[in-house]
Amino acid sequence: MAIERTYVMLKPGVMQRRVAGEILSRIEKKGLKIVAMKLMNIGRELAETHYAEHREKPFFGELAGYITSGPVLAMVIEGDNAVAAVRRLCGATKVDDALPGTIRGDYAMHTGMNIIHASDAVASAEREIALYFKKDEIISWKDGNEGWI
Ligand SMILES: Nc1ncnc2c1ncn2[C@@H]1O[C@H](COP(=O)(O)OP(=O)(O)OP(=O)(O)O)[C@@H](O)[C@H]1O
Ligand SMILES: [Mg+2]
Repeated sequence: MAIERTYVMLKPGVMQRRVAGEILSRIEKKGLKIVAMKLMNIGRELAETHYAEHREKPFFGELAGYITSGPVLAMVIEGDNAVAAVRRLCGATKVDDALPGTIRGDYAMHTGMNIIHASDAVASAEREIALYFKKDEIISWKDGNEGWI
């Protein structure tokens, strides 16, 4: 087990549908720890930098358009193997493959609007956290409950 940090972002539809609390609750109940969070609007440049690996994909324009269409809730989540743990909570990228019980399985009907982003590896988490947060916006905190959850 290794304590990791991952970048998680609730996409614009979440704010529109007023379900940010429900999704955050799933992350918290799992036992993961929120160490940074802010509501923000993403500009086109940041959207394209974040999703640069998909620049040549046919859905890139739609993806950048969606992600800049309204505020997102950006956060850094910490915990044991947090990168994989959050990806499991999210479920599969394609909504038809996202099982009920996962965030995408329960909240998304369209792959292009699949409600949540989570880093796919420790290296991408580091890159993405640095894109969205300054070092002093990340709060390390202890609750004395390590190992209870
Ligand atoms: N075939 C597709 N059609 C439409 N949109 C897609 C498709 N594949 C991916 N996307 C969109 O691009 C985003 C990035 O795709 P990626 O392959 O990185 O999936 P992911 O890692 O599960 O998602 P994310 O990076 O948002 O956490 C997806 O979340 C989705 O919104
Ligand atoms: Mg991805």
